[in-house]
Amino acid sequence: MIRNFVDLWDITPDEGWSILLNAESIKRGQDREKHLFGKNVGLFFTKPSTRTRVSFEVAVNQLGGNTIYLAEQSLQISRGEDLKDTARTLSRYLDCIVIRTDSHKRLEEYAKYSTIPVINALTDMSHPCQVLSDVFTLYETFKEDIRNIKIAYVGDGNNVCNTWLVAAGLFGLNLFVATPEGYEPSSYYYQAGEDLCKITGGSIYLTVNPVEAVKDAHVIYTDVWVSMNQERSEEKINMLLPYQVNEELLSHARKDVKVMHCLPAKKGEEITEEIFEKYADFIFTQAENRLHTQKALLKFLISSVI
Ligand code: CP
Ligand code: NVA
Repeated sequence: MIRNFVDLWDITPDEGWSILLNAESIKRGQDREKHLFGKNVGLFFTKPSTRTRVSFEVAVNQLGGNTIYLAEQSLQISRGEDLKDTARTLSRYLDCIVIRTDSHKRLEEYAKYSTIPVINALTDMSHPCQVLSDVFTLYETFKEDIRNIKIAYVGDGNNVCNTWLVAAGLFGLNLFVATPEGYEPSSYYYQAGEDLCKITGGSIYLTVNPVEAVKDAHVIYTDVWVSMNQERSEEKINMLLPYQVNEELLSHARKDVKVMHCLPAKKGEEITEEIFEKYADFIFTQAENRLHTQKALLKFLISSVI
């Protein structure tokens, strides 16, 4: 069977935990098998990327496979070839494809015609590789307590925020989300997260009050206020000012709070330079863990193809 990873709900809670446990073995050097030996993975990107592209390229290479970077401009799709024809062609050459694009709908359409696993490397709606890996970082830090800690997302209700809602459901986490009015996360992703919470015991609380969200939090997570290809609006920036992760906001959290950022960061907007540097080690461990988690994800998806 072909398994895609377009959104976090494409895997079950048990599969999610087993990917995280495998990521732990991979990171510790206990699983060094060349799970992708002889496999070719395409990386079809229509937007810039530092972490996702490089961590996937290194992951595939370390697993014994080969990557082909496919910038949109270099493909016939940029001259109008149908997306579904591109999907059907690439499926005949590759074993897996990683796609970063603006439109989540286009990614879903691509996946409909693809006969090899499709991995979402970020769309306007979700960023499941990022958040799966972030949950791994929290698991590594908090172990079984991960279900008891308070995680607060503050800022724009964007693709990363949407994905956190599903992660809370999938892994049974306790998530507080503070976003300004008009910049809330998608109600579709919220509902998907809530539905999963009923199975796993997770909880999601949405508020406009950043102090309420971070109060006694173990983890504070933020992301940029202007995502790739979004128009910068001063009205939105002004609405988001009270959600900046700064010393004052952190004073409401636990003293041993961890601060997370998926990167790239716009210091001085969603996070101050001072707070970023204070938590830089944790933030770059978060970035490193993309590599280990994606190796486990690739192994899972490739081994599911029968
Ligand atoms: N966090 C993340 O996905 O970074 P890139 O945009 O650099 O891939
Ligand atoms: N929300 C950000 C995430 C970048 C990894 C964006 O879409 O640009």
